[in-house]
Amino acid sequence: MTQDEAKKAAAEAALKYVVPGEPLGVGTGSTVNFFIDALAKIRHDIPGAVSSSNASSERLKKIGIEVLDLNNTGQLSIYVDGADEADANLRLIKGGGAALTREKIVAAASRKFVCIADESKLVKVLGKFPLPIEVIPMARSYVARELLKLGGSCELRMGVTTDNGNVIIDVRNLEILDPVTLENKINQIPGVVTVGLFAQRPADVLLLGGPNGVRELK
Ligand code: 5RP
Repeated sequence: MTQDEAKKAAAEAALKYVVPGEPLGVGTGSTVNFFIDALAKIRHDIPGAVSSSNASSERLKKIGIEVLDLNNTGQLSIYVDGADEADANLRLIKGGGAALTREKIVAAASRKFVCIADESKLVKVLGKFPLPIEVIPMARSYVARELLKLGGSCELRMGVTTDNGNVIIDVRNLEILDPVTLENKINQIPGVVTVGLFAQRPADVLLLGGPNGVRELK
């Protein structure tokens, strides 16, 4: 089984969580692209979707699903998104696709967060994947100096501007033993818009595709 086949299997397994007649939240990335393709089959049951990125909005519109403004939907029943890493407590690293801020907003505004991934994303301790942080451009050097104090080594993601007009700093060499505390600490650095740790609001369900089918962790 290829990694793409595993992502597609997880994405299709998430369809059962979609509540007919209710708008849903849709994340960003290659796994989510498989989910959007799968949504096409049931698009007549979906009044619309809140999207976490311009890229996903375009893909949703192409298959005839209306993109809604979160300010008009109220709380969403579910949010479906991928991850760069997940641990057994469903805490995540996200932001490999630079869409972490809107992803965190839509996750927070949803009753259930269904995370879809291939099983290679499951790790014992978060931190092998460089931790993405969205930063206001004028603060990037200051934030990098503050992050160094936390033990990480920082790299500006070259050539990337987020949908919100900001930059991404990727932090390597962090062994994240206490994700909630680290999320809070990084959030408090002036200039940080969002840290790609989803620990205070972890996923509620993790669907992991692999050669033996789709494993569900709750
Ligand atoms: C985008 C994300 C993605 O969910 C994450 O990067 C996983 O992507 P993929 O499904 O392509 O492996 O957080 O900001």
